[in-house]
Amino acid sequence: MKRGWVLQTLNWFEHRLGMRDQVLEALNHPVPKNTGWWYVFGSASVTLLTIQLLTGVLLTMVYVPTPDLAYQTIEYISYEQFLGWYVRAVHSWSGNAMMVMVLLHMTQVYLWGAYKYPRELTWVVGCFLFVFLLGFLFSGQVLRFDSSSYWGIGVGAAMAGRVPLIGPALVHLLLGGETIGGETLSRFYALHVFVLPALLLGFLGIHLLLVMRQGVSAPPFPAKRTDKETYDKVYERELAEGEPFAPDPLAKDVIFSALIVLVVFVLAAVYGVGLNELPADPTIINANPRPDWPFLPLFALLSLCPPWMETFVILVLPVAGFAFLVSIPFVSGTGERSPWRRPVGTIGVVVGVVLMIVLGWLGAVAPWSPAMEAWSGTPIPERMVESLSPTQLVGAVVFQNKNCRNCHALDGQGGTRGPDLTTVATRLTKEELVRQVVQGGGNMPAYGKQLSSANVEALVAFLATLHPEGIAPAKPSVEPITGPLAGGDNAKDDKTEVARDQ
Ligand code: HEC
Repeated sequence: MKRGWVLQTLNWFEHRLGMRDQVLEALNHPVPKNTGWWYVFGSASVTLLTIQLLTGVLLTMVYVPTPDLAYQTIEYISYEQFLGWYVRAVHSWSGNAMMVMVLLHMTQVYLWGAYKYPRELTWVVGCFLFVFLLGFLFSGQVLRFDSSSYWGIGVGAAMAGRVPLIGPALVHLLLGGETIGGETLSRFYALHVFVLPALLLGFLGIHLLLVMRQGVSAPPFPAKRTDKETYDKVYERELAEGEPFAPDPLAKDVIFSALIVLVVFVLAAVYGVGLNELPADPTIINANPRPDWPFLPLFALLSLCPPWMETFVILVLPVAGFAFLVSIPFVSGTGERSPWRRPVGTIGVVVGVVLMIVLGWLGAVAPWSPAMEAWSGTPIPERMVESLSPTQLVGAVVFQNKNCRNCHALDGQGGTRGPDLTTVATRLTKEELVRQVVQGGGNMPAYGKQLSSANVEALVAFLATLHPEGIAPAKPSVEPITGPLAGGDNAKDDKTEVARDQ
């Protein structure tokens, strides 16, 4: 009786949708023999993606993407809402697990030579999926809007700012203005919940279509060659000797996916997900922020390489890396497929993995901030305060209290992340000084929210005294500097220092 009811319902849909043949065909499509357990990482990634979508939708129901509420709503989700912490933990663990699965999937496809003819396009689309995934992780980190997100955006903005010609415009687009603020958060929110999911799902659709159309490649054991002339025939034979997708290979996919989901659920339940104690605050400079783990190698390179290499590391390296990935099937689209017969490629994978692990580890321990505390107590040189007016003296005190010398030297003593300020008044007008202090930029925190306008004024009055005797302070140029890109923005200056330890 019950069965009859189910069948009837199915028939009702079948009569309207007419999809039974396609479904059966998908389930029965032949796959080569001995595909084994190595072929499960792709489907596991898709499974985790569904979890991401589900938990993500739940989170958006509570999360508010404004600077004053973002961190608070995450606190609410984590501490007060019923099971909110668990949803957030699953979202986080499953996102990271997805990254792991995708990396395993890519490595397996590469080692098996499965990207070769005729599956080049599948690989290329997959490379884009990988970039979108990185975008998800990055924008997700920004949405947390804690102290690490703030610097994350700073690095992202510095990256964009180094693009030739359109750099400043890109930064403006990314930040929604010249400084990191409410608009920045809205933009990353839109990216994370609308733009990236649409791109990811669209490309994933193409990826899966291609997988269905080209079929999965046979394992390259024993060693086989791929030649464009013969491959299609060979593959036809492999399929003829193969087995239907259901039940066996399908079962492997399902079992592995279930296992991974179970692991994610357990990890989320046992470890939860931490809440960074520090909300985003540009003036917390000893926050010791870290990017999420997939970005740690880049972070390590940035903090270890000398300044003149920064543009290369920050802009050229990621672009070159992507171009390299995409080019692989066009450089070696035919020929040997077994990893044992492609020693260069296989050794390359091993070296790459080791390098990423070492760099990742270095990134986790690399000093972010200079040993800033070391200087923060150093008093302002006496000669600089001897003959100051009361207002200027107040400014000197603000300068001292805000530990500006963590990054700026006076008379050669102090931090080196920002320029030495001993003669800053010869370089900048009062207006420019105000802007720099209030808006920050170029990897300097914005102090606008931290200082009363009276204090800003006093501070600038003090800074304006910082010029050698006999040399006049900077005058406004004839053409008044106006407009958002007039100075102090993240993009303008190539000496912008990012994630550097000095
Ligand atoms: C986290 C490090 C950091 C801290 C703390 C910091 N700055 Fe800066 N500052 C920088 C960097 C980096 C630049 C260079 C910006 C650029 O190149 O666009 C800079 C630039 C400046 C400039 C412009 C200098 C020039 O020659 O162009 C002034 C003025 C300045 N800072 C003042 C201050 C004051 C005042 C404070 C304390 C309230 C302060 N800074 C705290 C990092 C810092």
